[in-house]
Amino acid sequence: MVEIKKICCIGAGYVGGPTCSVIAHMCPEIRVTVVDVNESRINAWNSPTLPIYEPGLKEVVESCRGKNLFFSTNIDDAIREADLVFISVNTPTKTYGMGKGRAADLKYIEACARRIVQNSNGYKIVTEKSTVPVRAAESIRRIFDANTKPNLNLQVLSNPEFLAEGTAIKDLKNPDRVLIGGDETPEGQKAVLALCAVYEHWVPKEKILTTNTWSSELSKLAANAFLAQRISSINSISALCEATGADVEEVATAIGMDQRIGNKFLKASVGKYSFLYVTQVTNASSFIEELCFLCNLISLKKKKDFKSGTGGLCFQVIDMNDYQRRRFASRIIDSLFNTVTDKKIAILGFAFKKDTGDTRESSSIYISKYLMDEGAHLHIYDPKVPREQIVVDLSHPGVSADDQVSRLVTISKDPYEACDGAHALVICTEWDMFKELDYERIHKKMLKPAFIFDGRRVLDGLHNELQTIGFQIETIGKKVSSKRIPYTPGEIPKFSLQDPPNKKPKV
Ligand code: UDX
Ligand code: ADP
Repeated sequence: MVEIKKICCIGAGYVGGPTCSVIAHMCPEIRVTVVDVNESRINAWNSPTLPIYEPGLKEVVESCRGKNLFFSTNIDDAIREADLVFISVNTPTKTYGMGKGRAADLKYIEACARRIVQNSNGYKIVTEKSTVPVRAAESIRRIFDANTKPNLNLQVLSNPEFLAEGTAIKDLKNPDRVLIGGDETPEGQKAVLALCAVYEHWVPKEKILTTNTWSSELSKLAANAFLAQRISSINSISALCEATGADVEEVATAIGMDQRIGNKFLKASVGKYSFLYVTQVTNASSFIEELCFLCNLISLKKKKDFKSGTGGLCFQVIDMNDYQRRRFASRIIDSLFNTVTDKKIAILGFAFKKDTGDTRESSSIYISKYLMDEGAHLHIYDPKVPREQIVVDLSHPGVSADDQVSRLVTISKDPYEACDGAHALVICTEWDMFKELDYERIHKKMLKPAFIFDGRRVLDGLHNELQTIGFQIETIGKKVSSKRIPYTPGEIPKFSLQDPPNKKPKV
């Protein structure tokens, strides 16, 4: 029986940081070292202000940091000393070459594999934690085999992480399941059991599933794909609701009561569903085709077959995500009398979901882009995303051009400042605090008619109150509210809301 006494985790990000903090917290006798090439990130992990926000994370880190949990940039030493190495580096969507925008970029995984083999002697378990295309373990093994040395024995496992951001600590402490995939050889199974023993410190045995490596890798991608398809389905229903007068929340409740369907993950919104859901599943198919990237496969080999099979469904999920954002931006512009040029618009929420500061692929970026393209002045507020991050995200060449951000974007220090003098307030993230704002105060300071566009249905319970204050509310998955805009002499809108012109944003 192999006993794990020291763990090294390469990658101190949204997955590696919280996962290894919880392992250290739950297994006081195991020494856990989390390493990263990013020195400022490691410094932040060692400081009172952690580099990522997750409810409960700070308490967990503070309970064991300096005792059995360490954050370091000394990657080579940490690998050398460890019995088990987790690979938790990012696998971003490719931004260049074949598969650009869709396939996963495995360059960081490859760099880790090379560094691990260079710094290893004897026995070590190497575990994929990052979400990777199916058969990534094979590429890692090939790098190990091509660089092997006498007495070196590196076992490769797959142990994908199912945590969701915003609930990471809860998910890690009480997971629905832990999945561990390994080789079906006695050596492989020995490694699987060693990792099981780590989780058995706090996870009931019946929740720890062991499979072969490929089932484990594919299960993670399949789970992501099912989740993405589910949100995609309810979002497509939300468009029908807006056209017919049905309310998507009522429809979700009605269909969710069917036990075969279930009521979770049926919230229509402008939220992004992780790019990993789609890119890596589609990438999985390309991997089977001699590890080539998705677009390689599609454009050079059998584009038609792929489009009509699994890949087709995944593309539709991507398209639906994009459609939902464009539709929402278009509705804002249409409602604001067909123009937002030079209008002040408050954007509340920039993170991709509540309880995280993560903005990767956030819908707020896209909605801001569509509004900036129309010349709107955006005043953005988020309780957890730093100002610099918002500026970096919006300054990306794919999002804005030239001096658009400096001309059109202001980052506000509180929601009231963002809404002061605004024509509209747009909710892009479902932060709980947005339910508790003083909307009378906000309404007084906004231009009239004052619009609220709720892209997250956070204000559902407050519609009557808000309409009484005088707001015009537009919400995802529901037809334009029946209450007419209060008419104030001298403020007659140029266009009737009953008959909005159909101009779409130029995007
Ligand atoms: C996801 C998977 O849930 C998790 O298992 C995997 O490990 C990583 O990817 P995450 O991306 O953190 O987690 O967030 P998730 O909770 O899946 O939400 C994704 C987006 O969909 C968010 O913007 C969220 O607000 C939105 N969402 C979620 C909806 O719009 N409706 C829903 O019903 C659920
Ligand atoms: P995830 O959401 O998958 O955790 P993040 O981007 O939050 O992704 O974190 C991944 C971390 O991995 C980053 O902090 C990055 O600096 C780190 N990283 C990437 N490549 C390497 C590498 N070769 N060695 C060490 N750390 C790496």
